[in-house]
Amino acid sequence: MNIILFGPPGAGKGTQSDIISKNFNLKKISTGDLLRDEIKKNTKIGHKIKVIIDAGKLASDEIINSLITEILENKIFYNRLIFDGYPRNLSQAKNLTLLLEKHNQTISCVLSLNVNKDLIIKRILGRQICSNCGSIFNEYFNPPIKEKHKCDPTYLIKRTDDNQITILDRFETYLEKTLPILEYYKKQNLLQEINGESQIEQIYKEIKGILTTLEAWLYNSYLYK
Ligand code: AP5
Ligand code: MG
Repeated sequence: MNIILFGPPGAGKGTQSDIISKNFNLKKISTGDLLRDEIKKNTKIGHKIKVIIDAGKLASDEIINSLITEILENKIFYNRLIFDGYPRNLSQAKNLTLLLEKHNQTISCVLSLNVNKDLIIKRILGRQICSNCGSIFNEYFNPPIKEKHKCDPTYLIKRTDDNQITILDRFETYLEKTLPILEYYKKQNLLQEINGESQIEQIYKEIKGILTTLEAWLYNSYLYK
């Protein structure tokens, strides 16, 4: 199965997709992480991407599509992908449909995490990321206590786009470019709305229920094809 995790910045897409990918053996594809990896390489294109991310705008479809094409061409990930923060506009969504068709796959389900703007801002301002293991924490809601995080605390960093100003730009970009995609998936009967304001474990419980049912359904339709 291929899943899309959809939601505004700070909705919990990264947090939930990490848990889902481990439990359902899916490969997490976060275009945000892929772009940040490009920035770390200190290339010319990486510098351009950093300016775009820090302004809360979207990277070009050309860059994103080439990153995604490379992954879909890798047979190891066939039909076991979870997309986190992708697609981000209608053109990317349509391109993904075409690419998956080309590789004999489809989207199985779009999980949309609904969270209000005030909570999003608080979550983003409290976010801490481990630059060693990649785990996502939050100083208010999910602190990196010893039982949850084994790396040295000096690895904990803040993202450069996690500040008061960029958050508002990112949210505007989300409303203008990303939110309209929901209609595209709604028409295809793929959309599942999730209350993203509950606790992390509670949200995962709901998602687990949906994905377990979906997995069984997909398996049965494969058997009786
Ligand atoms: P990206 O990295 O995708 O950022 P985003 O969409 O803005 O989302 P975030 O990563 O900020 O939030 P999240 O939903 O993953 O939340 P998280 O789980 O971390 O993109 C960054 C930039 O890259 C974009 O602005 C754009 O410039 C560019 N880009 C990326 N993809 C692109 C594309 N396809 N096309 C073009 N440009 C692209 O959680 C947030 C915090 O809340 C954490 O601290 C977490 O611990 C906490 N938390 C999570 N869940 C809960 C909960 N249930 N209760 C309490 N706290 C919680
Ligand atoms: Mg994220």
